[in-house]
Amino acid sequence: MKSRILIVAALAVIVFSCAAKKDAPKVVETAEPVKMIELTPAVATGQNLYDNNCGKCHKLFKATDFTKEDWKPILVRMQKKAHLDDAQMASVSDYITSQL
Ligand code: HEC
Repeated sequence: MKSRILIVAALAVIVFSCAAKKDAPKVVETAEPVKMIELTPAVATGQNLYDNNCGKCHKLFKATDFTKEDWKPILVRMQKKAHLDDAQMASVSDYITSQL
């Protein structure tokens, strides 16, 4: 039940971000486009899952609090605590990696 709410929330974020883009004013293209950090749907979902599941028992750690190598065993341990499935955890992992 809870994961269904999360999926709906994640979809709402994705739909909202797409809808918002439609109304955004047109940006004049420059010769040198500004490099943007891409927030893919998977990463947005991961952020959502992280924000909603990983701060229940302790503060929400920042991705940069740990190295990529440190995160791996932590995420394995925390997956069991947060009761997230492998696909959800892959999104969380993508999100954390995207912030490092
Ligand atoms: C059911 C409670 C619970 C949930 C949910 C939970 N954690 Fe934790 N977390 C703990 C406890 C307890 C510790 C400290 C003991 C330990 O390291 O196992 C901890 C420690 C941590 C640490 C510090 C690890 C270290 O080695 O110092 C990080 C980072 C962390 N959690 C990330 C997460 C992430 C990411 C999620 C979501 C996927 C999450 N936690 C969900 C209970 C939880």
